[in-house]
Amino acid sequence: MRTKMLALAAVGMIAFGGMAACTKDGNEGAAADTGGTRGGGGGGKVGVILPDTKTSQRWGSDDPKLLKAAFDAADVPVDIRNAEGDKARFQQIASEMIAGGVKVLIIVNLDSGTGKAVLDKAKAAGVKTIDYDRLTLNGGADYYVSFDNEAVGTLQGEGIVRCLKEKKISQPVIADLNGSPTDNNATLFKAGYDAIVQPKFDDGTFVKGPDQSVADWDNDEAATVFKEMWTQTNHNIHGVLAANDGLANAAIGVLKDSKMNGKVPVTGQDATTQGLQNILAGDQCMTVYKAIKREADAAADLAIKLYKGEQVTAPDEVKDPESGDDVKSFLENPQPIYIDNINIVIKDGFVEKKAVCSGRYEKLCRENGIK
Ligand code: BGC
Repeated sequence: MRTKMLALAAVGMIAFGGMAACTKDGNEGAAADTGGTRGGGGGGKVGVILPDTKTSQRWGSDDPKLLKAAFDAADVPVDIRNAEGDKARFQQIASEMIAGGVKVLIIVNLDSGTGKAVLDKAKAAGVKTIDYDRLTLNGGADYYVSFDNEAVGTLQGEGIVRCLKEKKISQPVIADLNGSPTDNNATLFKAGYDAIVQPKFDDGTFVKGPDQSVADWDNDEAATVFKEMWTQTNHNIHGVLAANDGLANAAIGVLKDSKMNGKVPVTGQDATTQGLQNILAGDQCMTVYKAIKREADAAADLAIKLYKGEQVTAPDEVKDPESGDDVKSFLENPQPIYIDNINIVIKDGFVEKKAVCSGRYEKLCRENGIK
């Protein structure tokens, strides 16, 4: 899936380092709304459409904040909006942005069908397109900026193996609580963790349990799905491969009702405040930290270059499994987080210690050496 190419720098060599070093002009509030000729781009803006605010803390908080900071630092006008999980709204926002003359459009699709419709429309209007985090299948975006998503799944698979080993459970039954079937990332996460646990099912060390996807990554739906798994198996589940922290928290809620939280390891992703607190409480085995700042910076750097009409060479390639095309990509590496290395996430400035270590977590933070 991922092909490393020569890490070539941008071809159109403008002094990007110098530009990025520009400080904010004290007018940052206006920067997101001001079109015009700032940044030497000759008009237009960069448009960003994020998917929702409910399936992960990141979309409503981390990504918009970090993207905006990167565009502001380069003094390039950006319009960042969120579709709130509504596909019609997603397309409406895109149409407005395209009609409004954006030069570059960055999207996180809600599914590949509507994502492709938006990309097609943008292309027809001469707008450069970037798939951010999620690849739009058969979408033909000019670029893709994300993490190595199969590696995220590998870390989750390794996580469940490690945590089950610590619990010394023999022949544990593993349940899969997968992400949205319409998100290509969910497919990649699953491919990653399945590749780790399948050999264990094959040799009888692990036992395959229920395996279901959660539509639209909906956390309430995840609780319903996991409750059903838990009941139908007569509570015979010993480990949960949950694809992100939101799904993990839904499973933990069900386990709590049976006082089995902490006894059944659950994986996660996103290093959310809630996920980290669940780890501190012993209810969640691990999470996967994706340094969103690196992803946001990479997407903004790329968009800014495209905005200025530069040619950009990408270091990676990802094959679109539907079209068979190679998409020029920038992929960051994820990191596994367990109770003993939560400090990585705090030190990186991704979450604040005071957010994680509030209330009942203050003591847990102290006991676990959170700095
Ligand atoms: C992202 C995850 C996120 C999930 C739900 C995925 O595409 O990669 O970071 O948790 O969507 O929003």
